[in-house]
Amino acid sequence: MLNLHRILITGGAGFIGSQLTRFMVTKYPQYQFVNLDALTYAGNLENLREIEKTANYEFIKGDITDAVLLNELFSKYDFTAVLHCAAESHVDRSISDPLAFVRTNVLGTVNLLQAAKTHWWGKMDDKIFYHISTDEVYGSLGAEGLFTESTAYDPRSPYAASKASSDHFVRAYHHTYGLPVKLSNCSNNYGPYHFPEKLIPLCIHNIINRKPLPIYGKGENVRDWLYVEDHVRAIDVIFHQGKIGETYNIGGHNEWTNIALVKELCRQMDTKLGRQPGESEQLITFVKDRAGHDLRYAIDASKLYRELGWKPSLQFEEGLSRTIDWYLSNPEWLEHVTSGAYKGYYDKMYGDG
Ligand code: NAD
Ligand code: TYD
Repeated sequence: MLNLHRILITGGAGFIGSQLTRFMVTKYPQYQFVNLDALTYAGNLENLREIEKTANYEFIKGDITDAVLLNELFSKYDFTAVLHCAAESHVDRSISDPLAFVRTNVLGTVNLLQAAKTHWWGKMDDKIFYHISTDEVYGSLGAEGLFTESTAYDPRSPYAASKASSDHFVRAYHHTYGLPVKLSNCSNNYGPYHFPEKLIPLCIHNIINRKPLPIYGKGENVRDWLYVEDHVRAIDVIFHQGKIGETYNIGGHNEWTNIALVKELCRQMDTKLGRQPGESEQLITFVKDRAGHDLRYAIDASKLYRELGWKPSLQFEEGLSRTIDWYLSNPEWLEHVTSGAYKGYYDKMYGDG
């Protein structure tokens, strides 16, 4: 077993980062975890309530673009591994504010690489820098084909371009300085604690409140959906067993057009909420398409299955049902996120410091 026990997680208060943090902190009590998160609109410490008092977990509010802070943290904690989740992650926001994406996703990632390189120099053998990325770097597919690890990068949104750039820097640090990196590129995630501006939680929230369900264009765009716990299980497997310098695609083999997905969501929610069949579908509203809207994403995850034995554990209908149940059982979480009250949680827990 490698000496992996002082782990820096970045972005651990976000959707995937908090799932990963809860999972790793609980599964590996012998490792120490530091969660560094700037708590942007997407960072929510209420996602980490279950583990916030756990002995092997510590939260630090801070920004990955702050090189001085990163150097201090590497010196203080002598990290042996990094799980890098922090990012600006919403395509629509990247269209209105691309520079925020360059700042965090590109500059922040390079800062982190630089801090790891500096502190690990001459002793890189038992270290891991794991960069969590997206399938959107590969661009958009037509009706046929799948993204493999060797598909040429062709990012088409500012978000995808910033993630592609960060992937290139991670590989460049491996090739140039020998930094021990691993990468994974995953398809669209869904599940509990998902910020309700992304398609699935937005529609769940709006169905509960009988508000319109905005579908971009004709709803014919296709995404490959993976339950967030399955993503996190894949990260765990790659972190512990994946090869240094390698990239692994992670996906659900689960393609849905947006319109079919939203109709399935309406169907399940009508049953769960005791509404008439077809009632929620009437909320569907076609709106102006997203600029440069990628038509189709679909991942070939066979390398991960072949080499490391990972495959998704959940069928989509079941994962969606669990997700809806979680939102219906946690109205307070949803209310705090939509009202902005979750932003006060840091002060309540940690003071102004
Ligand atoms: P998210 O937006 O929910 O969370 C991002 C987290 O990063 C937040 O807690 C935020 O506060 C933090 N953060 C943002 N800027 C920061 C900065 N400058 N310094 C420190 N922390 C900062 O994102 P997510 O959906 O959890 O995605 C996590 C990672 O997984 C991202 O790298 C994303 O590109 C990737 N990814 C996401 C999906 C998906 O479907 N959500 C799919 C594949 C890959
Ligand atoms: P999103 O959840 O933003 O993820 P991504 O853009 O990273 O794939 O969007 C998923 C799909 O749903 C995408 O094709 C855009 C579409 N969409 C809508 O039709 N309406 C919406 O309100 C949102 C947020 C997304």
